[in-house]
Amino acid sequence: MSFPNNFVWGAAAASYQIEGAAYEEGKGLSVWDMMCKTPGKIWEGNTGDVACDHYHRYDEDARLMQEIGLQAYRLSISWPRVLPGGTGAINEKGLAFYDRLIDTLLKNNIQPWVTLFHWDYPYALYCRGGWLNRDSADWFAEYTQVIIDKLSDRVLHWITQNEPQCYIGLGHQAGEHAPGLKLGFAEVLRAAHHSLLAHGKSVQVIRARAKIKPAIGAAPVGIAKIPASNQPEDINAARAATFAISGKNCWSNAWFADPMIFGKYPEDGLKLFAAELPEIRDGDMKTICQPLDFYGVNIYFDETVRARSNGGYEVVKSQIGPPLTTMPWEVTPEALYWGPKFLFERYQLPIVVTENGMANCDWIHLDGKVHDPQRIDFLTRYLRAYHRAMADGVVAQGYFIWSVMDNFEWGHGYKQRFGLIYVDYPAQKRILKDSAYWYKEVIASNGAKIF
Ligand code: FCB
Repeated sequence: MSFPNNFVWGAAAASYQIEGAAYEEGKGLSVWDMMCKTPGKIWEGNTGDVACDHYHRYDEDARLMQEIGLQAYRLSISWPRVLPGGTGAINEKGLAFYDRLIDTLLKNNIQPWVTLFHWDYPYALYCRGGWLNRDSADWFAEYTQVIIDKLSDRVLHWITQNEPQCYIGLGHQAGEHAPGLKLGFAEVLRAAHHSLLAHGKSVQVIRARAKIKPAIGAAPVGIAKIPASNQPEDINAARAATFAISGKNCWSNAWFADPMIFGKYPEDGLKLFAAELPEIRDGDMKTICQPLDFYGVNIYFDETVRARSNGGYEVVKSQIGPPLTTMPWEVTPEALYWGPKFLFERYQLPIVVTENGMANCDWIHLDGKVHDPQRIDFLTRYLRAYHRAMADGVVAQGYFIWSVMDNFEWGHGYKQRFGLIYVDYPAQKRILKDSAYWYKEVIASNGAKIF
């Protein structure tokens, strides 16, 4: 048994989490730079100032990726590194870094999958209202154009934004992520609407200007409810729960994906949020709804639900002492069956798992190696579930492990290690973990290794 021909095996990271060089060569401030300066926000006061120093060590990192045999690497671009003010003057040195990085990846036979926005929003634009300002959609389109004009002669795969559920929800409602706001729900929905408009305008720019025919997607959080049994009523309950609007928060597939793919907000949300809806101008939904080539989805874990006898569904509490990663997130491989299945059924776009992986208690063992059998077991279980989804008809094009290397895990700082490559931060030394060698065999066998 193996995976489809042309299935893409990759790993992912994001600019702020690995680059460092936060104050070098003309980079502007991002909201995450500011968040890290706020006492009490990040574990142990960690910052992304240096992170994995990837800005200076990208060459070595690309070589390690090649050693693992990665076919693709999902990276993101730091908007304020390229446009320090968010719009206007280009920081040529910052742009040149990405130019070199793309060339280096290609030289190592690694296809770059570029995410335009993975949360490091320009602080200068935040000061102009950020996502609350309707102009933010045009700011993002302008930034997109700069990147497309520079890199689209070599980059084929584009992802507009990573997880709006997090940078809007955790960033503007819960205050846990940058910019650390706790806004009322009407403002949260307004910011979300502008981020959707930004997505749509960005896709328009990519299509209009890309030098080689692009493949475009987005990478939202994949909320994937797992049915408690294989009974049709439980499966229907899980499907309904996967797309239902469950409260005044951003933990929804449909609120973000329905506008992008169907050109409308879901009815249950329109009803529940009636008092807080943003201004939706004529043409907005058309702008947001641009043809996409794949549905990128980030899936780590999810809840199990079952049908209630009187209709609706309920969450089944997990067992006592469930298997946990160090986040601690529950280990629920079935999420990688049901998520792709439900999302493919509804949106009819090829699925790409743009993030999946786990944080583990990795350290350097006495033999100098990093043994991470939990991660190998975790990835095997999830990949088997994903494969089963494909066997049941889901069209899927690829799989990206989060993450290629240990990195700055947002509010958790350097406490959580998600990488295939271990990073000794003080020495900036890299060690391939056992899982990296295992993944090399998975890739070489086109997945046969997991069975
Ligand atoms: C996702 C983020 C990614 C990383 C993983 C663990 O929500 O997109 O940057 O933090 O979680």
